[in-house]
Amino acid sequence: MSDDGRTLDPTDWEAVRSVGHRMVDTLVDGLRDVRHGPAWSPMPAEVKARFQAPAPRQGRGLEAAWAELQRSVLPYRLGNVHPRFWARVIGTGTVTGVLAAMAAAAMNNNLSGLESAAVHVEAQVVGWLKELMGFPASASGLLTSGCSLANLIGLQVARDSRGGPAVKAEGLQSVPGRLVGYASEEAHSSVARAFAVLGLGNASLRRIPVDESLRMSLPALERAIENDLRAGLRPFCVVGSAGTVNTGATDPLEALADLARARGLVFHVDAAFGAWARISPLLSDQVRGLERADSIAFDLHKWGAVPYGVGCVLVRDAEAHRRTFQASAAYLAPHPRGVSAADYAGHELGPELSRPFRALGPWMAFQEHGLDRLREVVEKNVEQAARVAARVRQEPELELTAPAPLNVVTFRYRGQGLEGADLDALNAEVVMRIQESGVAVPSTTRLRGRTVIRLAIVNHRSLDEDFDVLLDAVLQTGRAVAAQR
Ligand SMILES: Cc1ncc(COP(=O)(O)O)c(C=O)c1O
Repeated sequence: MSDDGRTLDPTDWEAVRSVGHRMVDTLVDGLRDVRHGPAWSPMPAEVKARFQAPAPRQGRGLEAAWAELQRSVLPYRLGNVHPRFWARVIGTGTVTGVLAAMAAAAMNNNLSGLESAAVHVEAQVVGWLKELMGFPASASGLLTSGCSLANLIGLQVARDSRGGPAVKAEGLQSVPGRLVGYASEEAHSSVARAFAVLGLGNASLRRIPVDESLRMSLPALERAIENDLRAGLRPFCVVGSAGTVNTGATDPLEALADLARARGLVFHVDAAFGAWARISPLLSDQVRGLERADSIAFDLHKWGAVPYGVGCVLVRDAEAHRRTFQASAAYLAPHPRGVSAADYAGHELGPELSRPFRALGPWMAFQEHGLDRLREVVEKNVEQAARVAARVRQEPELELTAPAPLNVVTFRYRGQGLEGADLDALNAEVVMRIQESGVAVPSTTRLRGRTVIRLAIVNHRSLDEDFDVLLDAVLQTGRAVAAQR
């Protein structure tokens, strides 16, 4: 079709402005009033069916698209914006994050090493994060889609720096000896997945047993390394956890840093949410040693109070980081001036070339709230976890199932007379009923072979009373389910 003068821009900009204003009102009101609605609502079958419709041939216009968004999508959000959402480890975000996302979409930057303000914003945010995490200014860093990708990047740098240049050039099969790494049994699944993605294989990540506080056992780690060396394998890295997903435990990071240095291993830390303990003088001791890591991965969309998806990887050896990901292409060559003259080339620090303007949310959040306010939220959530643990200890029908050193609490309904799989099923049923009731959203995990109820508190909207609502619901629902068994 030849140029008929039309673009995808609206013919009536005022009509767009009108929808936009109503949209902002609806979204802002939705967040303002979120406490008064259900934490989560299951989507009815007839609404699900609407998502089977084929792509429309003829556009219906923005008003219709907005109407459909209100009818079928907005009411069935996940619920993590609600004050009583504590499932998995899912951040809450802020209303400013909504506005930042809008501004980022309007600018529509591509952060692939092209000069624009966005590049400076990302470099500045990474610089702030380096300082917060105790990394030197000479380190490099990248904002990622989340901590899974940040772990992958950190571990790829580790693999290539210990495996040697042949790994990148010729592949793992070209290097002699099998590379093996170590993480605790409680390490996040994204670490093992990174091993698989990197061609190392899941089994090359040795899962080290934990002590009674669910922290990696150092003697067990030493034994595993010795066994692997005796078998002719090549230990290349140890992955510490700062805040495990199950219980918020932190491995002995200082001892791991010492061990890694003594044995020539790369020390990577998965600090998805635990990293934020570093910004509080009350909590930073828990993660002491984080600043000695060769690389760390963490999220801003969990405790950093920004909407999805923003994670970060920091790498001490900036040159090793760049070497790992640099890929030359004639059309990407930098120029001394003009658009291709950006100092911060994010596309040389990870697998993505085109990258969205992830940095704007954190940049706005840091400017708006300041670090002190973000620290207060982290401290509040940790205090709330301690309050929950204290009440659980006092309730005869509940059992605390692990220490709660940070912001994760695990417990179970005892269900008099029930045990094993029956008690597991009861606790899972309690969680599902509470989720479906819309009162709150806890989730479950498995600890030492038992299903337990789990709260991960990374929610600036939660008030102390919200946790009493949840615990009352657990007691009430637990009794009701037990009575039916
Ligand atoms: C300890 C830990 N590491 C890594 C991840 C993965 O992070 P993301 O979901 O941002 O990829 C999580 C997610 O909960 C986590 O808790």
